[in-house]
Amino acid sequence: MPEKRKEVLVQVNGMPVTVPAGAMVSAALLQSNAPCRSSVTGQPRTALCGMGICFECRAVIDGVAHRRTCQIPCREGMVVETMQ
Ligand code: FES
Repeated sequence: MPEKRKEVLVQVNGMPVTVPAGAMVSAALLQSNAPCRSSVTGQPRTALCGMGICFECRAVIDGVAHRRTCQIPCREGMVVETMQ
């Protein structure tokens, strides 16, 4: 039986970030100290509710904008870009 992966490597704004397998993308962003996006007034925004309601955690995942990072588990090789 193949061994389950304990960690996955993702890329956040071009930097490699290792997170535990099953961690959400918002956790990878927090680990890399990257805010998800900027508000219309330029304030940094990051995950708030953690359950898909507030949309504060949006980022670009594998080229798709406005993904809620608190709802998407990290996958090996995933590319995440914050929206500044
Ligand atoms: S943290 Fe609220 S929707 Fe993701």
